Amino acid sequence: MKHIAFKTLSNPTLESLTAFDTLILPVFSDANSNPLADVFGLTPFVDSLIQAGDFSAKGNQTLVLTANATPLNKRLILIGLGENVSKLTEKSYIAAIKAVFKALETTGALAILNGLTQIDFQSASWRCYQNTLNTQQSTYEYTHVSRGKFTAKTFKLESMTFITANNDSETQKILAQGQASAIGMHLTQDLANMPSNFCTPSYLAKTAINLAETYGFEIHILEREEMIEMGMGSFMAVAQGSPTPPKMICLRYLGTDSNEAPIALVGKGVTFDTGGISLKPGASMDEMKYDMGGAATVLGTFKALGELKPKLNVVGVIPATENMPSGNAIKPGDVVTSLSGQTIEILNTDAEGRLILCDALTYTQQTYQPAKIIDMATLTGACIIALGHDISAILGNDQTLVDDLLNAGKTTYDRLWQLPLSEEYDELLKSNFADMANIGGRPAGTITAAQFLARFTKDIAWAHLDIAGTAWVSGTNKGATGRPVPTLVEYLLTQASQS
Ligand code: BES
Ligand code: MN
Ligand code: ZN
Repeated sequence: MKHIAFKTLSNPTLESLTAFDTLILPVFSDANSNPLADVFGLTPFVDSLIQAGDFSAKGNQTLVLTANATPLNKRLILIGLGENVSKLTEKSYIAAIKAVFKALETTGALAILNGLTQIDFQSASWRCYQNTLNTQQSTYEYTHVSRGKFTAKTFKLESMTFITANNDSETQKILAQGQASAIGMHLTQDLANMPSNFCTPSYLAKTAINLAETYGFEIHILEREEMIEMGMGSFMAVAQGSPTPPKMICLRYLGTDSNEAPIALVGKGVTFDTGGISLKPGASMDEMKYDMGGAATVLGTFKALGELKPKLNVVGVIPATENMPSGNAIKPGDVVTSLSGQTIEILNTDAEGRLILCDALTYTQQTYQPAKIIDMATLTGACIIALGHDISAILGNDQTLVDDLLNAGKTTYDRLWQLPLSEEYDELLKSNFADMANIGGRPAGTITAAQFLARFTKDIAWAHLDIAGTAWVSGTNKGATGRPVPTLVEYLLTQASQS
């Protein structure tokens, strides 16, 4: 993947244009709403284009003009933003950033001056962040396991310079955060898009080892025999149905005093979820290759941490396995003992995510004594019914932690919405044959899944992100989104800056 060089310019003049071959000019249809056009003496030209009916400035409309077709003798890309700034939303602003990239892709642009950051919408740092994140992220393409179908995009784009009044070191940090988050998302997307015959637990482990070598993280990987011996009866119950070796992948990033308790990220790594003996229906089962989206988010976030090196300590723990039906597989009604000592009646083998996460949560607390623990998982279909594909669910036992994550989601537009935990829901997990059942029935499926996890995080500040709806899009644009890497990176950087 090509890393675009992102820069800033605080005082645009006609002369400053000499350093660029392309100008991105944001245009509102209201006259007097386009100060940047004035700076470059382009107002009459833009008016004439609108009068001629070649450009209307409606949202996301782009017009690419070659250098010899413009008064500046520079390639000019107009991006429509609708009537005026009061009508703009975060969604439409971000869509404009993506529309600009799409227009750029088919040009020979190398060095771009981008005026989208100059309009008066949200804060200057928000605009710089979103432009960096979404431009770099737009360069993502899936090229693994190609059989000749995929050829890498050949866009030439090298640098993008944002016009912004705030040209200070804080702004440079924001650009770095946006770019590193996008680079992390690319890894997350690649892993989730990769089919499960390539992206196995061993492959996830290999990816973590590569990250550790590149960025100097500590790495530790647990194997099946060891985990059986340690008493991870719940995780190992899921893994016993597959001959593919399960792994517990542990990464540690030390960015500050090693005595300081780390923040722990735990990600569900089911590299393929058939449902097990409680087999899933065939339709769209292929998509269950992304059931390691939580694991991929942990790895993507670690990649961003490696790039940004914030001053805090973070551990990442990934229980990775397939969930398969076989002669060795767990069966409905089987009872297992988790690492915590609590027993679980497995009423549905398709509720496997919580079975592997509970042991990972216990192991993480025992091994690293973290200050807080955040788990992320494509945990429930019910989450998609509740919140759809735009907003992730968050639940937790510590409102400060939940609020901090909600805020990080707002800033990055990688949004979360809190669902409640409550004793009444916990009671739905009652079992006649063990400490708890692994399902609570159809109502409130996302909540009962979280109530199950809450039983393993009683002594620590904990938040759970259900990303079943947001880590992936179905339909013609089928594929991984790289979410919620931006939220986690923002959360961790904020924590680092406050300590
Ligand atoms: N991986 C699935 C959840 C899922 C479904 C993620 C669709 C993404 C898209 C999870 O392991 C699962 O199967 N959950 C069950 C739980 C049920 C048996 C209580 C579900 O949601 O149906
Ligand atoms: Mn399942
Ligand atoms: Zn699953």
